[in-house]
Amino acid sequence: MGSVEDRYLTIALGKGRLAEKTAELFSKVGVDTGGMSEKGTRKLIFTNEEDRIRFFLAKPSDVPTFVEYGSADIGIVGKDTILEENRSVYEVLDLGFGACRMCVCGFPESAELLKHHEQIRVASKYPGIARDYFHNRKDQTVDIIKLSGSVELAPIVGLADVIVDIVETGSTLRENGLTVLEEICPLSARVIVNRVSMQMEGQRIRGLIGKMRREIYGDD
Ligand code: PRP
Repeated sequence: MGSVEDRYLTIALGKGRLAEKTAELFSKVGVDTGGMSEKGTRKLIFTNEEDRIRFFLAKPSDVPTFVEYGSADIGIVGKDTILEENRSVYEVLDLGFGACRMCVCGFPESAELLKHHEQIRVASKYPGIARDYFHNRKDQTVDIIKLSGSVELAPIVGLADVIVDIVETGSTLRENGLTVLEEICPLSARVIVNRVSMQMEGQRIRGLIGKMRREIYGDD
C-alpha cells in the first residue's frame, strides 16, 4: 500500500503478448494495473492511485530507452530487445514467460557455410545480436542485412545465406523448409530497472520485484 508522499513509480511494458502476460502477473500479486487489460483501449498510460504506480505501453524496442533515461523506473521486455538495444540498465528478474530462442537459421545445406568461416550474408531484425554473435563469438566476417519482419523470406528469395531470428514453436521455419543451424541464446521476458531509481526507490522496487519473484518461483 503506497503512502501519499510516495511519488509515482512508472513501469513501461512492451506492447503485445508480453504486456498481457505481465498484466496477469501483476493481477496475481495484487497490483491493479489501472484498466490496462481492457480490450480495445487506445489509452497509453494507466494509473493505480492506491499504490501510486503508473503503467505505460510502448513499442518493445523503446522500453530500454525509456528505462535508461529514467522516464520509466522499471521496464518489462524480452531479452532479445535488451540484448539488441544494449542500454545501460539493470536486468533484475527473469519472468520465465515468453520463452523462445535466438538462433541462426537457414536451409540445412547452409550449415557448411557456418563451419568454414566463409564471408556470408546474414539477414535479421536484430543486427546488433547478429553482429555480436558472428564477429565476437564466432570470429566470422559477415555482411548483416537489417530487415523489419518476415525474415524467413531472406534465404528463400536469395537475399541472405542465413538469418538470425527468434524461434518459438519452430513452425515458421518448418513451413518454409528452413531449420535451426546454431543456437545463440535462450530468451524470455525480463524486468529491467533504471540505475538511479534502484538507488532512490530501492525499497519499493525491490518489494514489487520480490512479489513477482515469489509468485513465479515460490518462496526460496
Ligand atoms: C517471430 C519470429 C519468427 C516467428 C517464430 O515473428 O521473428 O518469424 O515469430 O515463431 P515460431 O517459431 O513459433 O514459428 P513475428 O510473429 O513476431 O512476426 P514477423 O515475421 O513480422 O517478425
